[in-house]
Amino acid sequence: MSNAIKAVVFDLDGVITDTAEFHYQAWQRLADEEGIPFTRADNEFLRGVSRSESLQLLLQGRPVDDVTRQAMMDRKNAYFQGLLERLTPRDLLPGVADLFDLLDRANVRFGIASASRNARTAVEKLGIDGRLAVLVDGHSVARQKPAPDLFRHAAARLGVLPGECLVVEDAAAGIEAAIRAGMPCLALGPAERFAEIERRYGPVWRRDDLSGIELHDIEAAAQPASTWWVTQEGWQAEHQHHMETIFTTGNGYFCSRGSLEEGYPGDHALTLAHGIFDDIPIAITELANLPNWLDLMITVDGQLFRLDQGTCLHFSRGLDLRHGLLRRQVRWQAPDGTVLDVTFERFASYTREHIGAMRVMLTAVNRACHVTVETGIDGHVSNEDLLHWHHLAQGQHGESGLWLLSQTRHSELDLATAAMVSTPGQSPVQYRQCPGQPRLIVAQELDVAQTLQVDKLVCYTASRDPVEQAANVVERALAELAGRDYDTLRAEQVGAWESLWDDCDIEIEGDDEAQLAVRFNLFQLIIAAPQHDDRVSMGAKTLSGLGYRGHVFWDTEIFILPFFTFTLPHLARNMLMYRYHTLEGARRKAAGNGFNGAQYAWESAATGDEVTPAWVPDHNGKELVRIWTGDIEIHISADVAYAIMQYWQVTGDDGFMRDYGAEIILDTARFWADRAEREEVDGRHRYSFRDVIGPDEYHDHVDNNIYTNRMAQWHLQTALELLTWLDGLYPAHARALRDKLELDDACLQHWRDVIDHIVIHHDPATGLLLQFEGFFDLKRIDPAVIAQTERSMQVVLGIEGANASQVIKQADVIMLLCLLRDQYDARTWQTNWDTYMPITDHRYGSSLGPSFHAWAACEIDRADDGYEHFMLAARADLHDVRGNADDGIHGASAGGLWQAVVFGFAGLRLTDDGITVQPRLPSHWRHLSFRIRYRGGLVRVDIAQGGAVQITG
Ligand code: G6P
Ligand code: MG
Repeated sequence: MSNAIKAVVFDLDGVITDTAEFHYQAWQRLADEEGIPFTRADNEFLRGVSRSESLQLLLQGRPVDDVTRQAMMDRKNAYFQGLLERLTPRDLLPGVADLFDLLDRANVRFGIASASRNARTAVEKLGIDGRLAVLVDGHSVARQKPAPDLFRHAAARLGVLPGECLVVEDAAAGIEAAIRAGMPCLALGPAERFAEIERRYGPVWRRDDLSGIELHDIEAAAQPASTWWVTQEGWQAEHQHHMETIFTTGNGYFCSRGSLEEGYPGDHALTLAHGIFDDIPIAITELANLPNWLDLMITVDGQLFRLDQGTCLHFSRGLDLRHGLLRRQVRWQAPDGTVLDVTFERFASYTREHIGAMRVMLTAVNRACHVTVETGIDGHVSNEDLLHWHHLAQGQHGESGLWLLSQTRHSELDLATAAMVSTPGQSPVQYRQCPGQPRLIVAQELDVAQTLQVDKLVCYTASRDPVEQAANVVERALAELAGRDYDTLRAEQVGAWESLWDDCDIEIEGDDEAQLAVRFNLFQLIIAAPQHDDRVSMGAKTLSGLGYRGHVFWDTEIFILPFFTFTLPHLARNMLMYRYHTLEGARRKAAGNGFNGAQYAWESAATGDEVTPAWVPDHNGKELVRIWTGDIEIHISADVAYAIMQYWQVTGDDGFMRDYGAEIILDTARFWADRAEREEVDGRHRYSFRDVIGPDEYHDHVDNNIYTNRMAQWHLQTALELLTWLDGLYPAHARALRDKLELDDACLQHWRDVIDHIVIHHDPATGLLLQFEGFFDLKRIDPAVIAQTERSMQVVLGIEGANASQVIKQADVIMLLCLLRDQYDARTWQTNWDTYMPITDHRYGSSLGPSFHAWAACEIDRADDGYEHFMLAARADLHDVRGNADDGIHGASAGGLWQAVVFGFAGLRLTDDGITVQPRLPSHWRHLSFRIRYRGGLVRVDIAQGGAVQITG
């Protein structure tokens, strides 16, 4: 989306000369004569607005017939023209002449775009007509500002892309028109005048007048803020899947990958919504690709607009993280030579979570042409080759609405998709009802420089939505769209995202790459966090790809949730409630394995039952590999408990703990105590967890993995303390839980015994924690080999080979140190860092590692080393470090990034005395600030390089 400014379009009245004042005086005279109250303040609303619209505003609803209306406009115009007589070349406003000279010298073409039908006269009187490359006015287009048409018209006449053309305007309506046109703009005038625009559209570049303006100011205006925009220049088909993941947008209900609206061969268009699971072979269940709301086909004189056809003269895309908008600008030449500027904007509404909105603008650049836009709902979607939908019915609604009712083939969930299409130019809309793909068609003859705008709103509603009458999905979808329009939804979107960032932004001064990456990663988490549904949670790949089929792992609790817990706790609560609602599934899993209590699934979906595939094809797709994680990677139950305790500590949400959290922690504690294996050694007893997988999945079937054992011990200890808390404050609840979960004295005594006698291999002399029994008997691999590998070490060594070697996929011991950081001393930290870090497959092991390694490095005062790990996580998706970004966003890496900054570089801790920090910023960061929500209050933390700290709130 970065463009060099190639042209400037000036508004006339109030920008080039002070004829805005003449307009005011003319209207004032008319109003006085008619006895209509009118003031300078009232005139602000008339600024930049067409003559007839201005009169409308002036009359404020007074009934006037058409003849009188016309007479009034003529009178006002006569007064205005009288004033215009006085205009001379001396009447250019400050800075205008200098700027014209500057632009001439820089070969930047410029012109005037004014709604005034008197513009040409004014220009002649000012003596500037010979200098303008173009003059477009109230006669040039049908729709006036704030419609985008006039400025797009000017840009097309100048032969530049909308994004390459700066608009200079003094009127709010004009700035709005420029923004809608997809053009950079400069607002002239007092800040109050643009306050409403900024509220609706976000910050604008503003000055009092044009004096002293420099070329570099203008250049800067065209560059989107580099720390808020993820951009792509040029289209490269070979990167399309990576880009689809990067440009995913969503709202917590659904997310859509950044595929092109018009489609491209081989694309992976995908829209996923929480909870819409359907059955599949091998992986048991997966999120189903929803009917495609982006469905769009454009033709130009019968030629299909697609980037693999004709010639793409320009392509740029930008994801506006700050406002949750995805924009694209294309200049395309059809095979017959017709050139079209096509601008796309779309978003998943954060305020109306069922709705997606898109706007397409087509402008004919070099010749008149006939364009058609066919758009609707495409139900012919699949997950790769797997079909999930039956389409039950479809229809049209009113003048420009249509709908499709679908049902998942196995889980039998109903989904309605409804769409509403509008073309502000009012071209006729026709229907086309292909089975499974209802569409609307808009057709228009476009003159040169004329624009066709098509707005489309789409709504998804499902029978599983937590609302009354949920089954009547079609009616709900249509009702949700009724009366909505793109611009209002967009303004809500801007406001909603501004306030989200107010709560959760991290600001880094001195490192724009890190700044952008952090915001990008947080954005990707926010769009996948359920806002209004607590029966679902975030999968490992968020909602941005088919990787892991939408299944929920420990990634959510340990990596992703801390960000939400500390900044947007209502979202964390939803995802923790998912674990409560799926407790029955966890109980079934425990019972199935012959244990008491609740054992969370390694991979979890709608019900909480284990959905880890037991066998999957290997990386060559040739052989089936047995996956053991669902059987024996048991630490997840403690991870869930950890996240609940953290949530409770940060929010103080006792109600949650009493009603839900306690039951989870206590029932999973029962599992741990039952799963612990009692052994007699040298006449003494102890407890082991044998045959498990720890976080380091290069090693399976290991005994006494220290992460698992220590977290289980912590879990049991926590459960006992929690029960004491419950006994004290909520005895009735405590009694009920004791009864329900059979927590009698013998049971609790057994927990204490396990806590006291669980095997923890922690060498008191050196501080070394043994990852699992026998680890150091495995084959030693030269750290240099691991450091230089270009593939995963599991691929290099083979699954068995990695199992037999001292090479680690991801933080395991180090992970434990981070989670229980206050329980380990400096020597333990240092010894284990020195031992395990050199033999970790940092680059090609797990994407879960780098962020925690960054945090860990800070704990041993090596922030600059930490920074290297941090950037590995920061770039994971933006740079497709692992080559698998197509599968979706690495959610755990994204969440870990927040922890690396806040727990690592800032050293944030919650202590009995409240919040403390222990900064250790990377040496080139000048300043770090972030917000957290602690027990309901917003706290802002500011840290300067060198250690100055401010905690406010
Ligand atoms: C410009 C001015 C408005 C005016 C409009 C129509 O946009 O800023 O104040 O109403 O042009 O001008 P006209 O000269 O055609 O009445
Ligand atoms: Mg103006």
